[in-house]
Amino acid sequence: MASFLEHHLWFSLLLLMPISATAQNVSRGESLMAGDHMSSWKSTSGEFAFGFQRIENGNYLLTIYFNKIPERTIIWSANGKTPVQRGSKVQLTVDGRLVLTDLTGKEVWNPDTAGAAVAYASMLDSGNFVLAGPDSFPLWESFDHPTDTLLPTQILNPRNKLSARYSDKNYSTGRYELAMQSDGNLVLYTTAFPFESANSVYWSTQPVGSSLQVEFNRSGNIYLTAKNRSIIYMLSSSASSMQDLYQRVTLEFDGFLRHYVYPKSSSSNNKSWSMHWSTPLFNSPNDCMITDETGSGACDCGFNSYCSLGNDQRPTCLCPQGYVPLDRNDLTKGCKQSFLSQSCDDPNQEVDLYDLVEMEYTDWPHFDYEHHQGVRLQWCREACMRDCFCTVAIFRNGECWKKKNPLSNGRMAPDIEGKALIKIRRGNSTLKPEDTDSKKKVHSTSVFVVSVLLCSSVFLNFLLQLGTFLLVFIFGYHKTKMDQTGPVMPSTNLQIFSYKELEKATQGFKDELGRGAFATVYKGVLAYENKICVAVKKLDNMVSGGDKEFRTEVNAIGQTNHRNLVKLLGFCNEDQHRLLVYEFISNGSLAGFLFKNPKPSWYRRMQIAFGIARGLFYLHEECTTQIIHCDIKPQNILLDDSFTARISDFGLAKILKADQTRTTTAIRGTRGYVAPEWFKSLPITMKVDIYSFGVMLLELICCRKKFEQNVENENQMILVDWAYDCYIDEKLHLLVENDEEALHDMMRLKKYVMIAIWCIQDDPSLRPTMKKVTLMLEGVVEVPIPPDPSSFISSIQPI
Ligand SMILES: *[C@@H]1O[C@H](CO)[C@@H](O)[C@H](O)[C@H]1NC(C)=O
Ligand SMILES: *[C@@H]1O[C@H](CO)[C@@H](O)[C@H](O)[C@H]1NC(C)=O
Ligand SMILES: *[C@@H]1O[C@H](CO)[C@@H](O)[C@H](O)[C@H]1NC(C)=O
Ligand SMILES: *[C@@H]1O[C@H](CO)[C@@H](O)[C@H](O)[C@H]1NC(C)=O
Ligand SMILES: *[C@@H]1O[C@H](CO)[C@@H](O)[C@H](O)[C@H]1NC(C)=O
Ligand SMILES: *[C@@H]1O[C@H](CO)[C@@H](O)[C@H](O)[C@H]1NC(C)=O
Ligand SMILES: *[C@@H]1O[C@H](CO)[C@@H](O)[C@H](O)[C@H]1NC(C)=O
Repeated sequence: MASFLEHHLWFSLLLLMPISATAQNVSRGESLMAGDHMSSWKSTSGEFAFGFQRIENGNYLLTIYFNKIPERTIIWSANGKTPVQRGSKVQLTVDGRLVLTDLTGKEVWNPDTAGAAVAYASMLDSGNFVLAGPDSFPLWESFDHPTDTLLPTQILNPRNKLSARYSDKNYSTGRYELAMQSDGNLVLYTTAFPFESANSVYWSTQPVGSSLQVEFNRSGNIYLTAKNRSIIYMLSSSASSMQDLYQRVTLEFDGFLRHYVYPKSSSSNNKSWSMHWSTPLFNSPNDCMITDETGSGACDCGFNSYCSLGNDQRPTCLCPQGYVPLDRNDLTKGCKQSFLSQSCDDPNQEVDLYDLVEMEYTDWPHFDYEHHQGVRLQWCREACMRDCFCTVAIFRNGECWKKKNPLSNGRMAPDIEGKALIKIRRGNSTLKPEDTDSKKKVHSTSVFVVSVLLCSSVFLNFLLQLGTFLLVFIFGYHKTKMDQTGPVMPSTNLQIFSYKELEKATQGFKDELGRGAFATVYKGVLAYENKICVAVKKLDNMVSGGDKEFRTEVNAIGQTNHRNLVKLLGFCNEDQHRLLVYEFISNGSLAGFLFKNPKPSWYRRMQIAFGIARGLFYLHEECTTQIIHCDIKPQNILLDDSFTARISDFGLAKILKADQTRTTTAIRGTRGYVAPEWFKSLPITMKVDIYSFGVMLLELICCRKKFEQNVENENQMILVDWAYDCYIDEKLHLLVENDEEALHDMMRLKKYVMIAIWCIQDDPSLRPTMKKVTLMLEGVVEVPIPPDPSSFISSIQPI
């Protein structure tokens, strides 16, 4: 908090000086009107102006703009969402308020000065519009409330953000935002349009961390700085001639952040904004961040369309052949099929009516419903042609992906290998009703022909032969189809990788993400599947001859599917190599998230606890094969970019040497995450996971580790003991010291501690099931008073 104030003070002082030195003051009583001969409040140099600008639909926006260039490029607007009519007025009132009023006198916008009266306003030469109090101290400044643009000397910090406009000409809030997060990463995310809440991240500076703000300095460098103002991440570095250029960095409506420059000198004949830097990269084979897992991201063109880079290096939304825009004025709304879809009653009969047109360098990367390897283009064409669900097939290097509508996040770029095959209806058949009529006619004539033919026994004979031939043909066809599906494990969607493929994907196992007792995890990028990022887990200590065991377990893992589990995508089981390929979870483990200062939000932590509980419940009771995790700990809980908890490493217990699991866990100490039965040669049941969950729930509540040596009182060293003491002594507030949110949520705090105590009972039979735990967490069932965890008395009734 102190540093935040200090910083704010420093920043404000910096601005104070130019106010009195260079600016022209706007006094109380002055006003501007939206109309034909518009005046404005200019900066001393005349380079920036504050005033009205007419926009496309004839209405007006109150803006700050570059005043000396013909385009009068807008860099800030007060009322993007609610343009006003001609005759509307902005005034610095005699009592010191700045207000924008429409024709009816209704206030459309006014800056928040926390009730303080404005003495004068000033358009500074930096492009910052400032409202100052009587002591010249700034009360409000446009630099602190950016819309979609930053200018040199402006700073982006966790208290403000950039919001893209809806379209080039529509200044209403759009679908993308740029934010400096308090965790020290700069992120671009999509919003849950039409709401402004954050949806998902599609680009980020991760794993930079620890930066405080984005600075844009006078020489055109844009970078992230730490608290001590040292540069820790360079976004855009300037060209040498930056002094003679106007500059801005704008988050544009297509989701790209771009740094533009414009020559100041009037002699230059190259007078337009030119792009100096942009992110995310459009053609970036290794940029995993351009889209999130749902397929949204920069240049989201809506469904069934694709984004392509035009000659001007700007992406545009286009419809593929056979599709038309939903709204011709707004291509981001997507495209619809302009023809009658293929009938599913007998797709083979309709094959002649349809065709597949080829589009090079094009891909719709998500939501394929079938994938085949080792096939030829012709095979891929026919497979899609005969499948009424298939609207597009992607063919690349012997692989074929079938997709169905709506297609999403289409992209055409020179670096995209392979081609898209788009199903269209031959001729110009449209959805018009005549078509269905003519189809009926064709149908009835063919029935007539068939019945005539049936009367002749010669033809009957012929038909029988034809039928047999067709049966053989179809059977044979299906057989080859099975053979050609290539390495996909039957009954699951798991892909079988060769060791070589994975070696390539991880660049020779270069980028290590983590290392455990049995395995090392590496980051990799799959060469196909739109270059998605994966985590490749290389198992070291295999049970000898455990090949069958490996397959059984992988099969069990492959059948799981739950939002709180990390998804297994495939595996490699070649010679001595055993590798598992998982989806890449961007946000690290719970261990990295939980034990840091300041504590992460209480509600978020409780959300995570819920997520883990649901995931475990699924593993124990809902999936086809019961899976006991055996190693629940914060290191094995990963967080995705929406902070959803994802359990990893499940289903591995049996693959690893059984006695090994016991010995290594035993080393971790008596009061770890490990249930006491591990040391007592009692049977290992799913109750071991309940125990570990209980310990972790306490860690989530307290934001501290299960064992902590540096504590004032040695009673506090072991978390489970300390928590029980606090519960008995009714001093639960000690557990969440300084955690205001938790202290205001005492009822829940107490309930959750009680649930945790039930989970960490020494006697496994006393611990609740995961189902019971979720019901208690959700408040559906009451939590009874828990007994002393170490009391192991058989007279206590399990709950
Ligand atoms: C603007 O107003 C402030 C406060 O009244 C004054 O100190 C400053 O000199 C004025 N600047 C100009 C350019 O008039
Ligand atoms: C701008 O876009 C928003 C959001 O789609 C829409 O509601 C609004 O009518 C548009 N404004 C204009 C002037 O087209
Ligand atoms: C802007 O930042 C760059 C990179 O740190 C530095 O070389 C340059 O001197 C800075 N310019 C100004 C005007 O501060
Ligand atoms: C400033 O902080 C960064 C990161 O917090 C650190 O790496 C760097 O050494 C610090 N620089 C100075 C001069 O203190
Ligand atoms: C215009 O100027 C920009 C930068 O000043 C430069 O990158 C671009 O190539 C120029 N274009 C032409 C046509 O001269
Ligand atoms: C069918 O459409 C194509 C282009 O979509 C057009 O060139 C052609 O003239 C059309 N044919 C008929 C018969 O309408
Ligand atoms: C994870 O991602 C979210 C959103 O992208 C971010 O707010 C959060 O700080 C990240 N946490 C970590 C530990 O990286």
